[in-house]
Amino acid sequence: MTDVEIRPITPDDDFDAQLDLGQRAFGVYSTQQKEGWLRVARLRASEGLFLGAFAGGVPAGAAMLHDMRQYWLGNPVDCAGVASVKVAPEHRGMGIGRQLMTELLGLIADRGYPLSALYPATVPIYRSLGWELAGAKHEFTIAARSLRELQPPDPQAATESQQTPRITRATPDDVSRVINAIGRSHLAARDAGPITWDEGPARQWLERPDLYAYLAAGVEEGDGFAAYRWAGGDTRELWVERVHATTPQALRALWSVIASNASVTRTVRGWTAPGDPFWWLTAERDATISRRAMWMLRVVDVPAAIAARGFPPGVSASVPMRTNDWARPANAGRWLLTVADGKGTMIPNGSLSSPDPLTLGPRGIAALYAGVSVATLHMSGLASGGTPEAGAQLDAAFAATPFMVDDF
Ligand SMILES: CC(C)(COP(=O)(O)OP(=O)(O)OC[C@H]1O[C@@H](n2cnc3c(N)ncnc32)[C@H](O)[C@@H]1OP(=O)(O)O)[C@@H](O)C(=O)NCCC(=O)NCCS
Repeated sequence: MTDVEIRPITPDDDFDAQLDLGQRAFGVYSTQQKEGWLRVARLRASEGLFLGAFAGGVPAGAAMLHDMRQYWLGNPVDCAGVASVKVAPEHRGMGIGRQLMTELLGLIADRGYPLSALYPATVPIYRSLGWELAGAKHEFTIAARSLRELQPPDPQAATESQQTPRITRATPDDVSRVINAIGRSHLAARDAGPITWDEGPARQWLERPDLYAYLAAGVEEGDGFAAYRWAGGDTRELWVERVHATTPQALRALWSVIASNASVTRTVRGWTAPGDPFWWLTAERDATISRRAMWMLRVVDVPAAIAARGFPPGVSASVPMRTNDWARPANAGRWLLTVADGKGTMIPNGSLSSPDPLTLGPRGIAALYAGVSVATLHMSGLASGGTPEAGAQLDAAFAATPFMVDDF
């Protein structure tokens, strides 16, 4: 095979060749998609977050990282989003993809990201390097008329009325307020899995000419944010990119803005979470989940990722563990995992004397981190050892239903 070099793509590299690789792998982009992709690719290249494989000096594959915050029980954890992984068709099946992903994992670790997430088009290559299925993105579909009248607050539960928030159009210059509003909503909901972007791509998204974005400000600035666009060609569906709020009033106000389009559209679609308040706001049981896309997680730095994750404040755990991780040996060892007061700690060499510690590889660690129960880890071959008591403690500490509403 021709010599393959893996190296960071620099702003001086040939981006038309990179675009060509992308289109050969994922299909032809629209003019708008091309422009958007090139801007992000140049940004990531300037940050050293775009790796290329070159066979005989010619671009043969590439993969990109996005700088993200991923919320875990409300705590933002630095996360490298892996995107645009591809190898030119004539070079596939020769080991370039594995070489590229191995180098990318090293880059993620070097840049200090405790976590990495990706949407797999194919799972085995990522599993072999320690990523595991962890959460999902759910597409909802609802008849627009069902949104026109939202279910009012239950009078038997409502105690106080709050000021109705002010809704304003969000512009690209509001980018930090938008990121802040989204992050605050994930903190308030103690969400697991969703991400916020860095300012460059977030601003670019707000600059999309087909995006209509709104901020809600009530008692506090940044009470909520919603964005949608028209989709579906002649059928005029409304695609809800996101609705986030920290107060019930802001949530209702933002959904009302979306619902006000019901005279023009019959169907509203978007990404949401299975536990989103949306499911309890409609008067009829008209909303369905029409599609589900799973994403994978890699715990790149186990002690740092555990220290950064949120845990339920009232739960405590003390569990002897053994971890193996040939791709990131620093993660391997004997540990005592403790959880107390909402914080987790991996104590190295803790409880070395434990005769049968819970034993996990990187895939099991990723699944545990994402809230998969210890019984499921055992049954799917991702864990061995440990005691039923240890399993019960871990289940209570890590319980989560991770989701995302972003694509990358
Ligand atoms: C998936 C892809 C990046 C793998 O790159 P590659 O150079 O062909 O892969 P390698 O030769 O290094 O093989 C690594 C692993 O990838 C998987 N793989 C290889 N070719 C594959 C293919 N055509 N389709 C799916 N998976 C493949 C195998 O699991 C393989 O592991 P194995 O050799 O132990 O069985 C490449 O096939 C590709 O670009 N596919 C189209 C675009 C795509 O699906 N990208 C992923 C987006 S998330």
